[in-house]
Amino acid sequence: MSNPKVTAPGLIEMKARGEKITALTAYDYPTIRLLEQAEIDIALVGDSLGNVVLGYDTTLPVTMEEMLHHTKAVAYGADRALVVVDMPFLSYQISGEQALMNAGRFLKEGGAAAVKLEGGMEMAETVRRLVDVGIPVMGHLGMTPQSVHALGGYKLQGQTDEAVERIMQGAESLQNAGAFAIVLEMIPAHVARQVTESVDVPTIGIGAGPYCDGQVLVIHDMLGLYDKFTPKFVKQYAQLGNIAVDAIKQYAAEVKSGEFPGPEQSY
Ligand code: KIV
Repeated sequence: MSNPKVTAPGLIEMKARGEKITALTAYDYPTIRLLEQAEIDIALVGDSLGNVVLGYDTTLPVTMEEMLHHTKAVAYGADRALVVVDMPFLSYQISGEQALMNAGRFLKEGGAAAVKLEGGMEMAETVRRLVDVGIPVMGHLGMTPQSVHALGGYKLQGQTDEAVERIMQGAESLQNAGAFAIVLEMIPAHVARQVTESVDVPTIGIGAGPYCDGQVLVIHDMLGLYDKFTPKFVKQYAQLGNIAVDAIKQYAAEVKSGEFPGPEQSY
C-alpha cells in the first residue's frame, strides 16, 4: 500500500507527535518526482521561482499566471506530498475578495492543496476568510521576501524586543485565524524556539535554527543549481550545477570532434 497523503491537519498531528516535517520547493514535474521518491512531506511552489527559475532579482514581479503554470506541473506529479503554493505579491493584500478569488484559483485550476501568504497580525482576517471556505493556509513570518524593500534587504529579523513581540503576536494571530502551519524565515534560533513552543501548529524554519517543527529550503540552493547567490544558512547537499556543466562540456566536445553521435546512430 502506498503511503497516505500528507494533509494540513496531518501536519498538526505530526507536531503533536514530535515528528519533524520536511519541506522543499518544487516548481516543475521532474522536481516533484524527485521529492516524492525522497518522501518529502511538503512541496512548496514558492514564489522564489521568480529568483531561481525566472531569473528576477526579487519575488515581486511574480504573477498569478506564472505561479499557476508551475503549480499545475507540480500538482500533476504529486502523490503523497502536500502541495502548498505561494500567493504572489499583490494577489492577496488588496481585499479579502481578491485573496479568496486568487487562493481559490490555486486549488481549482492549479491542483494545489493549500496556499501560503506572508504577514502576521495584519493578514489574520484574510487567513480566516480563506480558511472559512476550506482553503488551508500557511503563514510566513520573519524575513518576508515580498517586503524586501521595506525591510532594507534580505536580513535577519527579530533582533529587538519589539520585533520579537511582533513575530509572537503574528504567530498567535495566524494560529487563531486557522493557519495550519507557519514558515519562520531568518530569525534567531531562540526566537524561533519561543514561537514554536507558543503555538500548536507546526513552524517550518528556513534560516531559523534547529528548534522549528520542520525545515524548508529552496531546492536550487541545496542542490547547487543557482549560482547568483546562496544564503549563508543553506547547506548544499550536492553541486548538481557543476555536474551538469561537466556533462554539457563533454557533449559539446564530442559533437565538435564527431565522437557523438558516432558513425552509426542507433535508434
Ligand atoms: O518562496 C519560497 O520559496 C519561500 C520559502 C523560502 C519558504 O517562501
